[in-house]
Amino acid sequence: MKIVVTGAKGRIGAVLVDYARSQGAQVLGVDSVGRGSWREQYIAADLTDTGSCYDVLRGADAVINLAAIADSGMFPNAHTFQTNMAITYNVFLAAAHLGVPRVVWASSIQVNHTVPAHRPVRYQYFPLDEAHPVDPQSEYALSKYLGEQIAEYFARDYGLTTVSLRFTDVVTVERWPSLPQAIPPDLRYPIPHYVHIHDCARACYLAATAPLPAGSHTLAFIAARDTHVDMPSRELIARYYPDAELRADIQGYQALISGRRAEEAFGFVPQYSCRS
Ligand SMILES: NC(=O)c1ccc[n+]([C@@H]2O[C@H](COP(=O)([O-])OP(=O)(O)OC[C@H]3O[C@@H](n4cnc5c(N)ncnc54)[C@H](O)[C@@H]3O)[C@@H](O)[C@H]2O)c1
Repeated sequence: MKIVVTGAKGRIGAVLVDYARSQGAQVLGVDSVGRGSWREQYIAADLTDTGSCYDVLRGADAVINLAAIADSGMFPNAHTFQTNMAITYNVFLAAAHLGVPRVVWASSIQVNHTVPAHRPVRYQYFPLDEAHPVDPQSEYALSKYLGEQIAEYFARDYGLTTVSLRFTDVVTVERWPSLPQAIPPDLRYPIPHYVHIHDCARACYLAATAPLPAGSHTLAFIAARDTHVDMPSRELIARYYPDAELRADIQGYQALISGRRAEEAFGFVPQYSCRS
């Protein structure tokens, strides 16, 4: 199976490339960093350029699109928004025209709560799931929300099989020893969430390779099964979100985000907990 991984030189992309190769996939890495090397199966390309997208996606069975400006505050908002929209649209368009049947791409928990938030973040119920209303509060978050609409559109109108992965806070191997952590004294504290970077990479690979209905769009949170803070989850809800409805019997430090969709759709079960 030939998979194109964009954002291949980024934090998650680099881990994903190694993981997918270890599973036997033929992987072409693409990123705008440095210059390419056919020996390393890496091509340097700016994916805001539509023609470059067509070139690198040719012959692929799936693309996992991680290339993006990966947060707010690094560049002017307009640049972040325009870059992310251009990359996402170009990748989906090229896949549709070239017959690349599966597109997986990185959305973000920031569609539900943006960091830092401009207004109080409200949750109607817990565990949070994909049916909960979103509230993007930055151009970065907006680019992720609109990317989900693009994924939906290309599934519906072009028959692509698309997967939007709402990554939670992806914890690198270097940061892992610092968890669990104390809760910050901020009343706008967003719900705690995380996923180990190796779990995140495995989720991408599963989303690209597991059987899914042709022409479907799957939207799924990618999260650990517990929180990464030292406050029990019920206490946390009572303190920060007292009006939210409790839709499940959340115990101990259990996650406030449901992982059911990712498990049912493509078999993703996280293997890492910061408490084990
Ligand atoms: N890290 C997290 O906690 C997290 C959480 C939610 C969502 N995400 C999303 O996951 C994806 C990967 O995140 P990451 O943490 O690895 O970020 P990262 O910044 O480490 O990697 C992103 C990569 O995209 C590349 N890129 C940027 N613009 C490009 C362009 N025009 N053409 C080609 N490549 C380009 C960058 O060079 C970089 O290597 C991003 O889409 C990000 O928004 C990450």
